[in-house]
Amino acid sequence: MALTDPTAAPPLPAHPDPQLDAVLAGSLPHELSYAIGGPFHLLLPDRFDANAAAFTAVLDEFGVEGYVYYAKKANKAAAWIERCALSGLGVDVASAGELRDALGHGVRGEHIAVTGPAKADALLRVAVLQGCLIAVDALDELDRVIAQARSAGRPARVLLRRLPPAQPHSRFGMDDGELETALVRCREADVTMEGFSFHLSGYDPLMRARLAAELVDLCLKARALGLRADRISIGGGFAVDYTGAEHWERFLREQRPEHYHAGKSFGPADFYPYHSPLAGPDALRAVLTTDSLAERLREAGVMLLMEPGRALLDRAGCTVFRIQGVKDRSSGYGIVTVDGSSLSLSEQWFNSEYLPDPVLLPAQESASEPYAACVGGATCLESDMVTWRKVRFPTRPAVGDLLVYPNTAGYQMDSNESPFHELPLPPKVVLDTAGRSTRWRFDRPPLA
Ligand SMILES: Cc1ncc(COP(=O)(O)O)c(C=O)c1O
Repeated sequence: MALTDPTAAPPLPAHPDPQLDAVLAGSLPHELSYAIGGPFHLLLPDRFDANAAAFTAVLDEFGVEGYVYYAKKANKAAAWIERCALSGLGVDVASAGELRDALGHGVRGEHIAVTGPAKADALLRVAVLQGCLIAVDALDELDRVIAQARSAGRPARVLLRRLPPAQPHSRFGMDDGELETALVRCREADVTMEGFSFHLSGYDPLMRARLAAELVDLCLKARALGLRADRISIGGGFAVDYTGAEHWERFLREQRPEHYHAGKSFGPADFYPYHSPLAGPDALRAVLTTDSLAERLREAGVMLLMEPGRALLDRAGCTVFRIQGVKDRSSGYGIVTVDGSSLSLSEQWFNSEYLPDPVLLPAQESASEPYAACVGGATCLESDMVTWRKVRFPTRPAVGDLLVYPNTAGYQMDSNESPFHELPLPPKVVLDTAGRSTRWRFDRPPLA
């Protein structure tokens, strides 16, 4: 039965990716699905390297001294931190586990930034011992850093994190009064006060540039007190451009509850901005251009640090499910059930929807008509929908076909993963494309 429901959601294809498409067109995805017996993630570390190089190239273009830390929270794979260790890229960690993982893969302590609020003493101790740069979020945390430095017998490297005045309700950072107190304490204690940091929500380059300029002024003030203050960190929040403007604008204009299973409704503000004209390194360029920030940094001798997560993972991975059931609904669309759950596509757990369209990889040729379907997980939860919207597939999906969610490396793969129902966690499969042929390996070898 062909279900060509006129209420299928407007299409939202990811940008074409010929290199990955060539891999997906071969037998590898089906072979891996057969071998693994469940969903899996594909990783492309070469893309990570290229994204990092593009950020560094923008810093060079502006003659700005800077340093990029990969925000590890965006994806737990070892592949990325292995690359950081080899290339000298930094890593931003926010827990003792993330710090251990980075150090264990060979990232040097001096190349690690430690962020996150109210950091545990166990994390601070290792961070001080390893010479990591600690973004201090509160006065009581500064006192604990100072205590750790005293007992370790070596100075702690710190940045003081500023509460963004434009986001006064943020729970992160210190206000003006707290920063004044922090500067006095830094002067009196055995810490190297290297500068200031912030983390802004959202993706606005202008806001980042303006706050960065304020931090440069704060550095000059701190230097007058005898502190080093020669760097600032502007955090992450470099947007990723998943789809073209015309698709995105049409989607936002036309999407409505009839396009979703069970009449689910989303407002435009519920979605990540899947199209962004200024994304990744272009967003950094916009930050550096605004109010001549690059010039100010150069003149003041201030180094620009940043912690991109999502942007370094752009097009560096996808997620593959196998279809294990297809149900025709009399209301004119189908329900596809896959061999995993929405816990492996994290956006679904933030009252939102991961919008780049999943791509069907049929196991066998079929001549059927286009077919509209939502996608559910293999759990007993009504709300476990991998895709709420009714996607128009070119043919009717069949059991054994694969469904590929594009560009999922940034935050989608593992931030909410769970072995609920004793479903195995999807393994990560690394595609090494450096040689003449594409070879695959597990990101972390399966446990014996
Ligand atoms: C302190 C800090 N740095 C970096 C990031 C990474 O942000 P993004 O992945 O948007 O670049 C975050 C994300 O929440 C963060 O809190």
